[in-house]
Amino acid sequence: MIKKLTVSAIAALGLSTFGAMAAGGGDQHIEDFDFSFEGPFGSYDVNQLQRGLQVYTEVCAACHGLKFVPIRTLGDENGPTLPEEQVIEYAKQFEVYDDDLEDFREALPTDHFPDSALENAPDLSLMAKKRAGFHGPYGLGINQFFKGIGGPEYIASLLTGYTGEEKEQAGVTFYENTAFPGGWIAMAPPLGDDSVEFVDGHDADLHHLSADVSAFLMWTAEPKMMARKQAGFAGVIFLTLLSVLLYLTNKRLWAPVKRKYKDEV
Ligand code: HEC
Repeated sequence: MIKKLTVSAIAALGLSTFGAMAAGGGDQHIEDFDFSFEGPFGSYDVNQLQRGLQVYTEVCAACHGLKFVPIRTLGDENGPTLPEEQVIEYAKQFEVYDDDLEDFREALPTDHFPDSALENAPDLSLMAKKRAGFHGPYGLGINQFFKGIGGPEYIASLLTGYTGEEKEQAGVTFYENTAFPGGWIAMAPPLGDDSVEFVDGHDADLHHLSADVSAFLMWTAEPKMMARKQAGFAGVIFLTLLSVLLYLTNKRLWAPVKRKYKDEV
């Protein structure tokens, strides 16, 4: 019985490994960007989130929405942390449909960002958690233990991964991209060096702009990451203490029995 099980387990493993290799997961190129929020103690870089918000607003928002993100959260701590007046000003650039007025009006901080303006452009609110950058080796996902899931790395690699080649298929133009599964994406390269200018003169080459907007999209997908890490850390400390106490209790409980056993031998 055990032998049979082992044989089928090995066969299943072999098949899935083969399947992953055959699926060609290996030809996607994801660059491992260094983000400030990586690791157990990492946190969002407020200035980077503000720059990323600017890139999103000036470039991506033309096509992509962020419909799950309330505009007011731009003022939250551990987010872009905009002052209240700026959040109110920021909201005004969007128009939302008001059911009570039965008309469009300027957005308020209590509204959400709009939906995607372009029908085939996906909403970006949760994109950084929806896509995995790291799969390998052989699709087993072991890299994710060490590097994280790689959502923001995927987005940044996508933005920097255009080769310049394009082709037309059934009237749609596709652009060759080394990070996109399949290699051809319908989104034209949205960013280039200096597509956006920062007031503080921060680097605005393609690499930096891509990293900034990806960090911002990580925040939209997981605004409470810092709270989660803190809770996790407190949990680990608590469990460590509890383990020590349980170990000592166990020793103490069994001490009389052990002593008796020793005397008898
Ligand atoms: C001119 C419109 C347009 C602009 C501007 C634009 N995109 Fe896109 N984007 C698209 C379209 C269309 C798709 C769907 C492409 C496809 O599925 O082939 C897409 C897809 C994506 C995807 C999903 C890829 C996937 O794995 O499915 C991401 C991520 C993305 N865009 C990020 C961005 C970011 C970040 C910006 C701003 C720097 C941006 N886009 C600007 C049109 C646009």
